[in-house]
Amino acid sequence: MTKLVINPNKKVSKINKEIYGHFSEHLGRCIYEGLYVGEDSPIENVNGMRTDVVNALKEMRIPVLRWPGGCFADEYHWMDGIGPKEERKKIINTHWGGVVEDNSFGTHEFFELCRQLGCETYINGNLGSGTVREMSEWVEYMTFEGVSPMAELRAKNGHEEPWKVDFFGVGNENWGCGGNMNPDYYANEYRRYQTYVRDYKADHKIQKVCCGANVDDYDWTKGVLSTCFSHSLPIQHGFMDGLSLHYYVHPEGWEIKGSATDFDEKVWYKTLNKALFIEELIKGHETIMDEYDPKKEIAMIVDEWGTWFTCEPGTNPGFLYQQNTMRDALVAGLTLNIFNKHSDRIKMANIAQMVNVLQAVILTEGEKMIKTPTYHVFNMYKYHQDAALVDSSIETKNIGADDEYQVPNLTESVSVDSEGVMHITVTNLSVEEAYDIDAVVIDRAIGEIKGEILTNEMHAMNTFEEPDVVKTENFDKVTVTDKGLSFTIPACSVIHLAVK
Ligand code: AHR
Repeated sequence: MTKLVINPNKKVSKINKEIYGHFSEHLGRCIYEGLYVGEDSPIENVNGMRTDVVNALKEMRIPVLRWPGGCFADEYHWMDGIGPKEERKKIINTHWGGVVEDNSFGTHEFFELCRQLGCETYINGNLGSGTVREMSEWVEYMTFEGVSPMAELRAKNGHEEPWKVDFFGVGNENWGCGGNMNPDYYANEYRRYQTYVRDYKADHKIQKVCCGANVDDYDWTKGVLSTCFSHSLPIQHGFMDGLSLHYYVHPEGWEIKGSATDFDEKVWYKTLNKALFIEELIKGHETIMDEYDPKKEIAMIVDEWGTWFTCEPGTNPGFLYQQNTMRDALVAGLTLNIFNKHSDRIKMANIAQMVNVLQAVILTEGEKMIKTPTYHVFNMYKYHQDAALVDSSIETKNIGADDEYQVPNLTESVSVDSEGVMHITVTNLSVEEAYDIDAVVIDRAIGEIKGEILTNEMHAMNTFEEPDVVKTENFDKVTVTDKGLSFTIPACSVIHLAVK
């Protein structure tokens, strides 16, 4: 028996709903085809947004969406994407496949999409190749209510009312595609640009996100924070609300990456081992953040994470289209458990990317749409959104096909929602072994239990021909014991139990 101990009365931190956030870039078929098909499309849509995709994302309770990039953001000039569509500039998407970007999806369309989804908005500004004035005017265009050139332009383009910008990224990957800057240079630019990201209304606070590190580039975090926090007395409240972190899992490294569907047990464990590395990264960057911000007022924002495999054979390599298997489901399940456990510092995360790109929750092909195994994990974990993380721990043992890439057999996290329902999510990383779990629940009665499970063999995936190979099933094999509850978690599975 494996012991899981839960203390539901010991609340640790709030799991911000934004931890379950998403990212959509002008990349491949994410925006065009995946989300936006245009009003004249034969595919069912509302104001150009695919109805099937919008409905699936709403069911999964998407809390926040980041846009327009990614690398694309630091080359995006927002004025190209407003006004009559036929007059919008056609440009080449130099980062992603060299295809024509006709700017038919711009600021108005993004806010319309978020309105339909009922989610918060995270805009990523252009610091790499845009001016301070351009960034400042975009914020004015989106949020100013009253008499101003940008508010008038917005009204002329059909939207009298300002929109709500919840988060604003001041550049993206400025250590790389966003301008190849060094930390000191970027930090000074951050200080300057963010000054003009204004809150025009007292009750409309835009949360500003500073560009953080790639993977374990701790020098970036140190350099950016030391320059940002030097010679500025006092730093105003809201100067920096978040610092980002990007981490992608490539089983065979950045150059080779590795197939999304063709892998053996060794690569299974190697992938999961690399996914688990995110916890070390969180701790490493957090230690540096703690020096400058011991009260944890600046959020860690993992605004790009997920698997990045070799793209599907026969597809445009610049489109980053990949299939999604049970391996992706396990990566999502264990990563979200880790984020929950670090929700005192992590306040938002955005899986890359929402539709048709990298570890997508949805894939489309013409009028067809499928939900990936990763979708089902987000759908099972949605109950953690805005719930209180409670103290819990599980006994684990190391497993794996070779010594180098060992992983713990199980991961878990537990929360209690506003109605008092306890949500337990557990992942079993083993490809062959089931585990009997004996959960001790301290000082709490066990009421009605509803369970759901996602389980299959490691390569299982959904295709356009067979869309429901991997899907959640009811899980009712839970026994109430004198100390809590017990159940058996099958190999290669993710479980969610809701306990009243
Ligand atoms: O998500 C794909 C790309 O990965 C993003 O554009 C960039 O920010 C990152 O390098």
